[in-house]
Amino acid sequence: MEDPSAAQEHNRRAWNDRVRKRGRFARPAADEDFIDPLKKLDALGWLGGDIRGSRTLCLAAGGGRQGPIYASCGAIVTVVDISGEMLELDRQVAAQRKLHLTTVETSMDDLSMFADGSFDLVIHPVSTCYTPVVAPVFQEVARVTRVGGLYISQHKQPTSLQADIRPSPHGYELLEPYYREGPLPPVQGSRHREEGTLEYLHRWDQIIGGICRAGFFIEDLTEPFHADTSAKEGAFAHRSRYVAPYVRIKAQRRAPPDTELIKKILWTP
Ligand SMILES: C[S@@+](CC[C@H](N)C(=O)[O-])C[C@H]1O[C@@H](n2cnc3c(N)ncnc32)[C@H](O)[C@@H]1O
Repeated sequence: MEDPSAAQEHNRRAWNDRVRKRGRFARPAADEDFIDPLKKLDALGWLGGDIRGSRTLCLAAGGGRQGPIYASCGAIVTVVDISGEMLELDRQVAAQRKLHLTTVETSMDDLSMFADGSFDLVIHPVSTCYTPVVAPVFQEVARVTRVGGLYISQHKQPTSLQADIRPSPHGYELLEPYYREGPLPPVQGSRHREEGTLEYLHRWDQIIGGICRAGFFIEDLTEPFHADTSAKEGAFAHRSRYVAPYVRIKAQRRAPPDTELIKKILWTP
């Protein structure tokens, strides 16, 4: 089994580098993002229309987007990221817009600086692909989310990570096995992958099963729509007609089982 900390250190440097190069996902929120921010963040209404005062963890969400936008909706925001440079963008945007947020530099599988049940809401943009082992991430998220709190996460779909980025006469062929170890081979010029980072395929069992096993109920699941029938062959929107790139999951922290009650029921003749 691969040492997760080596991959995380590689990705920390890669994301710091993306900030210096102003790469995709390292560009802060723009004025229009703050016009009707809750609608922009939550078109599906998963957040219930009002998150003022909600203790919100934006996990692996540096880059000056999610953190400041949630803070502008009145949430009490903590942004966690492994990249200090990505977090610096959050601090800059917060200062420019006179918003309050806290930043913490750590890996998503180590939230030991937060007490159990510290957050009402955890927002987790696409990032589980950057860690070789995902179960400890979900266990940490479950620990820091209060019972009844929400965990909203987005992930790269495994099929998208298996499929070629170039079209063939047969569509987009599966090049990578589903059951595999180690980082995916590097690619260039793909909007589905981030060059310079190490990315890992996590299977459905590890994503959906992992969230459930960590202590959540799944309430809803969507596949953000990126397909376009007029897109040119090989374009992101063309490939998205064949393979959905992402999945978005709404989960609620469930109460731990009442072991005393279970024992009583089992032992009552
Ligand atoms: C695609 S970006 C997501 C946030 C971005 N603001 C967006 O708009 O989607 C992925 C983020 O995950 C962070 N990351 C990668 N590995 C991480 C880890 N092990 N722990 C915490 N953050 C990590 C990266 O530094 C990067 O900021």
